[in-house]
Amino acid sequence: MAENAAIDTATTETGGTVRRRDFINIAAVSAAGIGAVSVVYPLISQMSASADVLAESTTEVDFSAVKPGQAIKAIFQKQPVFIRNLTPAEVAAAKAVDPTSLRDPQTLEERTKTGHENMLITMGVCTHLGCIPLGPFDGGTVLGEFGGYFCPCHGSHYDTAARVRKGPAPKNLHVPDYKIDGTVVTIG
Ligand code: FES
Repeated sequence: MAENAAIDTATTETGGTVRRRDFINIAAVSAAGIGAVSVVYPLISQMSASADVLAESTTEVDFSAVKPGQAIKAIFQKQPVFIRNLTPAEVAAAKAVDPTSLRDPQTLEERTKTGHENMLITMGVCTHLGCIPLGPFDGGTVLGEFGGYFCPCHGSHYDTAARVRKGPAPKNLHVPDYKIDGTVVTIG
């Protein structure tokens, strides 16, 4: 019996005893814990976006050739984005609207960057069912009743701040995250 007791127990640092089976269990749990960490880490590594993927997630456009009254379409994350240079009259028209009267109340200032209120950068996706609105692209003249954009699918009209003013669209054209540096806008 005394021999069995020596096999089944061991002295701990605090002077207590634990059974060897407990040692084995503790050792097995610890090993499993280390294994779990080493499995999780590669998964996290694989989930981190590579530099290539991050580069693809932003769009950089030099808008120096976009004159007041003109707009261009670019692609941001596989969707159209509108980059529009508003004329002083279009800026004034957007500012003249009481935002509380709007379906989706926002001011032009809230939708543009300080010092660049004439540069209106929005997604080119109608907030109704996702059509691409018409606007002053390549000399286009279909701007809708409020001088901004017009979605021909079901007749949504957006104003010169790309805010919905008429038709079924529930929201203004979405303004993505972007920054302007000189004449270059980086979207995303
Ligand atoms: Fe634009 Fe319906 S998708 S009005």
